[in-house]
Amino acid sequence: MAANWKMNSLPADAVELAKAITDCNWPDILEVLVCPPFTHLESLTRLIPRSFSLGGQHCSDQSSGAFTGEISAAMLKALQCSYVILGHSERRARYPEETTRLTAAIKQAINSGLQVIYCCGEPLDIREKGLERDFVKRQLSQDLFDLEASKMENLVVAYEPVWAIGTGKNASPGQANEMHHWIRELLNKRFGPDSHAVRILYGGSVKASNAEALAAMPEIDGVLVGGASLIPEEFQGIIRAFS
Ligand code: PGA
Repeated sequence: MAANWKMNSLPADAVELAKAITDCNWPDILEVLVCPPFTHLESLTRLIPRSFSLGGQHCSDQSSGAFTGEISAAMLKALQCSYVILGHSERRARYPEETTRLTAAIKQAINSGLQVIYCCGEPLDIREKGLERDFVKRQLSQDLFDLEASKMENLVVAYEPVWAIGTGKNASPGQANEMHHWIRELLNKRFGPDSHAVRILYGGSVKASNAEALAAMPEIDGVLVGGASLIPEEFQGIIRAFS
């Protein structure tokens, strides 16, 4: 269960929100991850019990140097992050030039010892034309296929159809399951058995009320949650659904 807080909350709110999440018990087999804004990481490092994982929402494709405003994978690692989200559709849309550096950022993150939550997913017009499989295949081959198979253990894929993000309109469990199956097939074809370690999350308007149906799908290993992760009862409901 990954919470993507995006650019929301102030450090003081973050502590409260994290505390509310810790009130919820979940079985050991479930991993709960919080990806707050960079500025909140340090305070959460001190507060969050180790049963939680922490993650960043982006990192640079460079290791260090004159890159004003950037955050390196090693900096995230030093703040006890174990994950970083890369390729989120909001960044792809706002900073399109960044996509050409996405593979390099993924490599930086993995080489720094982070797990990458790599996001992919089609916009609405592509879905309406029935071309979503081709679109996602192109994203995966452009961004991931250059990696070594041995790096698959550091990869999580989040399928997030753009039309479902923050819109209240989630993909049906069947649509998500079908795409996850396709992604699994593509990874298997390119990377072989090493890809079996990759977890595939669904993201896009996940809330407590639809989490159970998503959790019931065999190909859905977890969820990446935006808006609902900012509402303690909602996120707790999602954790319970997957528990
Ligand atoms: P949402 O965002 O849950 O608010 O749709 C998901 C995401 O962008 O990761």
